[in-house]
This record gives sequence, structure tokens and C-alpha cells, in this order.
Amino acid sequence: MALLEVDGVTKQFDGLVANQDVSFHVEEGEIVGLIGPNGAGKTTLFNCISGFFPPTRGTIRLDGTDITGWAPERVVHQGLARTFQVVRTFPDLTVRENVMIGAFARTNSTAQARRIADELIAFTGLASRADVLGANLTIADKKRVELTRALATGPRLLMLDEVMAGLTPTERVQAVELIRAIRERGVTVLLVEHVMEVVMPISHRVIVLDSGRKIAEGPPAAIVENPEVIAAYLGEKYRPQRTGED
Ligand SMILES: Nc1ncnc2c1ncn2[C@@H]1O[C@H](COP(=O)(O)OP(=O)(O)O)[C@@H](O)[C@H]1O
Ligand SMILES: [Mg+2]
Repeated sequence: MALLEVDGVTKQFDGLVANQDVSFHVEEGEIVGLIGPNGAGKTTLFNCISGFFPPTRGTIRLDGTDITGWAPERVVHQGLARTFQVVRTFPDLTVRENVMIGAFARTNSTAQARRIADELIAFTGLASRADVLGANLTIADKKRVELTRALATGPRLLMLDEVMAGLTPTERVQAVELIRAIRERGVTVLLVEHVMEVVMPISHRVIVLDSGRKIAEGPPAAIVENPEVIAAYLGEKYRPQRTGED
């Protein structure tokens, strides 16, 4: 059984169809990339999956449980956490406190929440910033805090919405290492990402959305060769150079 099953999800906003009959699945232990042009419906799909609004049609299952239309907190309890494209770090709270908010999804004990937060802050490389206020962080650190807070809820599936946006090349390399390490801890990852140099090497499979529809799905090597994906999104840039006379 797949960890996440998205079956025929459609999301309409008045006249606009942001997701149209989208189906895909994510297996436990995978890193799956979700790509597509701006406005393709990637964030809307994340919002439908994570309970921020109900899909107009379709079904979402997490480990076999139908979670369609559940409230976000209930979805988090079921083992699915997500980050936001626009970061939501609390400016007046320290890094540790920001992460503890995530931990309170699974414990009522402040001491326990602090232990969870400190362990994860060390894991994500934020230990030296534990007492810094959210307001005083760089964008890269804010993104890292948001990711750490999501991890603190104890997810089986982590959904990341453009965690690389605004990062320097060095910070991106660190973020890629972190995503790989997260998966090694046993967390499955679904990521929306525009930086192809990040998505292609890190993803086991890639799903492509365009104008709300899924237009392709497959291993990265096949996606970069797919004519419809090249036309809709990638252009020729990421196509591997050919040698020989084919
Ligand atoms: N809450 C909303 N109300 C109305 N339209 C929305 C809402 N959220 C997204 N949309 C529209 O849905 C489409 C897909 O947006 P989005 O999911 O943010 O795309 P992406 O994340 O792929 O850039 C866009 O046309 C956007 O304007
Ligand atoms: Mg988006």
C-alpha cells in the first residue's frame, strides 16, 4: 500500500480549476519531486492534501486512511507535515520555541517538547541559533526552522513547498544534504521545487503539473526527455547533451 494516495483530486476556485483530476501516489521511503510552471497548482495540491481546504472532488489517503477534508491538525496527527512557500516563522519566539510548537502536536509536556526540539535543532544544524529570535534569522535559517518545526510533529510524510527558494548555492547544497538525511531517518518526502539541479538528482520519481493537470510522471531521466514537459516547463536546458549521430 502506498503511504500517500491522491486519487482524482480536483480543486475549483469559482471559475478557476486549480487542480484537475490529479492522481498519484508516494511510496514509503521515496523522495518524490513535484514540478511545473508558476500557477500550475502545486501549492493548491499541497493545501488539499494537508487539509487547508477540501478538494472539490477526489480522495486522499494516508497509509490507507481516507483523510479527505480533514482539518490540518488532524492530518498532522495522522503523520503528515508540510512547510509553507511563504515562511511562517514566529518573529517573537526563539528558534527552540518555534520548533517546540511542532512538538506540541505529539506531547503536552513542555519538557518533552523541549527535548524533541533540541534533538531536531541539532540534527538540522540550528544548534548555535537555538536562542535567536525568529525575527533575527536569515531567510535560509527561517526555512530551516520551518522544516525543523514540521519534523518535530513526528511525520511519516513531509511535504516541502519551495524550501530552496531564495537560498545561495552553498545553502542549497546544505538543504539537499538535509533532505537526504531526513529520508534516512525514515521520513518520506514530497517536494515542490523549481531548482532543477536540486529536484533531478534528489528525486526517485518526478511528477509534473501544468495548468492543474498531471502531464507526466516518472524517473528524473525520463522526465527531462519528455517532449510535453520540455514544452510546458523545462525548455531544452535540462536535456542531456547527446553524443553520436542519433
Ligand atoms: N485560495 C485561492 N483562491 C483563488 N484562487 C487560488 C487560490 N489559491 C490558488 N489559486 C489559483 O490557483 C492557481 C494555482 O495556484 P498555485 O497552486 O499557487 O500554483 P503553484 O504553486 O503551482 O505556483 C493559480 O491560478 C492561483 O491564482
Ligand atoms: Mg506554489
